[in-house]
Amino acid sequence: MGAVDALRVAVLGPGGVGGMLATLLARQGHAVTCLARPGTAQHLDRHGLRLTSDRFGELAVPVHGSDRLTSPVDVLLVTTKATQLAEALDRVPADVLGGAVLVPLLNGVEHMAALRERYPAARVVAGTIRVFASRPAPGEVRHDGQLVAVQLAPGAEPLADALQEAGVDVAVRPDEAGLLWDKLCFLAPMALLTTRAMTPLGAVRDRYGDELVAVIAEVAEVARADGAAADPAATREFAWSLPEGMRSSMERDAAEGNPTELEAIGGAVLRAADRHGVDVPVTRRVVEELRARLG
Ligand SMILES: NC(=O)c1ccc[n+]([C@@H]2O[C@H](COP(=O)([O-])OP(=O)(O)OC[C@H]3O[C@@H](n4cnc5c(N)ncnc54)[C@H](OP(=O)(O)O)[C@@H]3O)[C@@H](O)[C@H]2O)c1
Repeated sequence: MGAVDALRVAVLGPGGVGGMLATLLARQGHAVTCLARPGTAQHLDRHGLRLTSDRFGELAVPVHGSDRLTSPVDVLLVTTKATQLAEALDRVPADVLGGAVLVPLLNGVEHMAALRERYPAARVVAGTIRVFASRPAPGEVRHDGQLVAVQLAPGAEPLADALQEAGVDVAVRPDEAGLLWDKLCFLAPMALLTTRAMTPLGAVRDRYGDELVAVIAEVAEVARADGAAADPAATREFAWSLPEGMRSSMERDAAEGNPTELEAIGGAVLRAADRHGVDVPVTRRVVEELRARLG
């Protein structure tokens, strides 16, 4: 154990993101319970987690696997996909979670209100993660590249310290709206247009550059209306600085026939635009095309 006090951490959805953080925290000596569907929970309880990472190397750690939270924890990390969230939360009874710190790391903005309503006694703290992680098989996690950066709103400082000590780049920032929308301002245009075209980012820039610029501008306007200080020029520059082969997880999910996070990402932008009376014609057309195609 390092200088940070040992935490009891539950991770709901130990996939790419959750499995990676669970591995890093367990390696530091924190008591990690992975909450998963019964088959995965049993596998993790027996065999633990194995992380293969360009940054951290090969790590294997034992963790406790369970299909339900049955005893109190200090922190609950929620790392399912948005489409799996409602069903997964049935594994976390509000009375067992009590006043714990609950940090969702899902992309999107709308899960915050849903979690606060469902767990009124918990301290729900906004978080985002920038990483390329995947779960090739239950208990197996792959981390590509060096990037693993978590942003947290205030209220989860022991977790921030524990993650930092575990080797994650962590920043605590006071503005919840800015924290969540900063991620979405790039992610939403990138995910929507790569999925609409079913191509990597480079081909979108070449063939649909005007639409990409328009969606970046529209999402930034919605973000501003929702209380974030968005910078569409910086987002544009960032979008044009990335490798041309870059794919979005929405496009990958669509290509593999899996449910996508279209509603949590594109749908959420439209609903926020409607709430604030912001006109987003290009984004709306793309989201509606995708809704018709992906269902
Ligand atoms: N992956 C990335 O690099 C990345 C980067 C930034 C943000 N994000 C965001 O992070 C979130 C998680 O993404 P991810 O890529 O880590 O997803 P993922 O690899 O698909 O992991 C999701 C996990 O949730 C589990 N799960 C599904 N249904 C469940 C249920 N009913 N009860 C309990 N567990 C359940 C899955 O279990 P099984 O293992 O049994 O299938 C899986 O372990 C998404 O919102 C994503 O947009 C991801």
